[in-house]
Amino acid sequence: MAQWHLDSQTVLYAVIGDPIVQSKSPVMMNRAFRDTGINAAYAAFHVRPEGLQAAIAGMRAFGMGGMNVTIPHKQAVIPLLDEVDQSAAAIGAVNTIVNRNGRLIGYNTDGIGYVRSLKEETGIDLSGKRIVILGAGGGARGLVYALCRERPARIFVTNRTAEKAEQLAQDMSAFGPVEGGGMEHLPRRIAEADVLINTTSVGMAPQEGMSPVDAGWLHSGLVVSDIIYNPMETALLRDAKEKGCTVHGGLGMLIHQGAYAFEYWTGVAAPVQVMWEAVLEAMGLAGSGPVGGGTGR
Ligand code: ATR
Repeated sequence: MAQWHLDSQTVLYAVIGDPIVQSKSPVMMNRAFRDTGINAAYAAFHVRPEGLQAAIAGMRAFGMGGMNVTIPHKQAVIPLLDEVDQSAAAIGAVNTIVNRNGRLIGYNTDGIGYVRSLKEETGIDLSGKRIVILGAGGGARGLVYALCRERPARIFVTNRTAEKAEQLAQDMSAFGPVEGGGMEHLPRRIAEADVLINTTSVGMAPQEGMSPVDAGWLHSGLVVSDIIYNPMETALLRDAKEKGCTVHGGLGMLIHQGAYAFEYWTGVAAPVQVMWEAVLEAMGLAGSGPVGGGTGR
């Protein structure tokens, strides 16, 4: 491990959100800075919506190197920045800000982080695959955009509120073969699919035990992925395992969105393995690996 200390040259990074106390990012990012010997520190700030503008002004005033932005600020922060990367603009959400010589530039690393995690942990090649996405919220938008770059045969987005799935499909249709529709199509779409991804909050603590789909619709040829990481193994993933599916949990997305942010800020390859270890330790799960086929390391 490289030498690491804080001094007058230390560059500050942070995550802002409301709430923020549950964030694993400070533990993960500080471990990454320490491991790579980069003179930087990463804090978490509880910023309410009415404080967002002042927080961004503070970021400029302090010459902070960058920030991560989480719920509920991912959209609202956009007009406060100097520039927004093309993919973040298409997704309509920023989760990473880079301070490049005083200019604040917004990126979205959620979708690409998710795709890197899915590919590394399951070994899947997404080109030509049929993908079903459950949910049409902010999380789904980033995923669909990033999945389109992998050249799938088609992406079907379905949601409890069908109009939101149709709107998302329309917004993303410029980037790939995306269709939207109601849940009534789900059994047939899953039967034809190679990959099923849950982006809804169904199954997340404190509602663990609930699954967004009927276990009877799953089949052994599916890769089943859940972006929820609390619990690490959701009811959906447990059902999928029983059916012989390849399963992929949500913790890798957290790690890899952070790894991309680290790389945008520093230009240094993120130490993904130590980031995994830091997050698992913080969750009281030291020694366990990602939920899924591979090691993700
Ligand atoms: P995020 O930004 O994390 O995606 P979000 O924008 O609030 O969060 O989206 C949450 C998603 O979970 C939505 O697709 C939501 O469906 P609606 O658009 O119909 O609200 C979905 N969701 C939440 N609770 C659900 C439930 N009990 N059953 C089915 N879908 C649910």
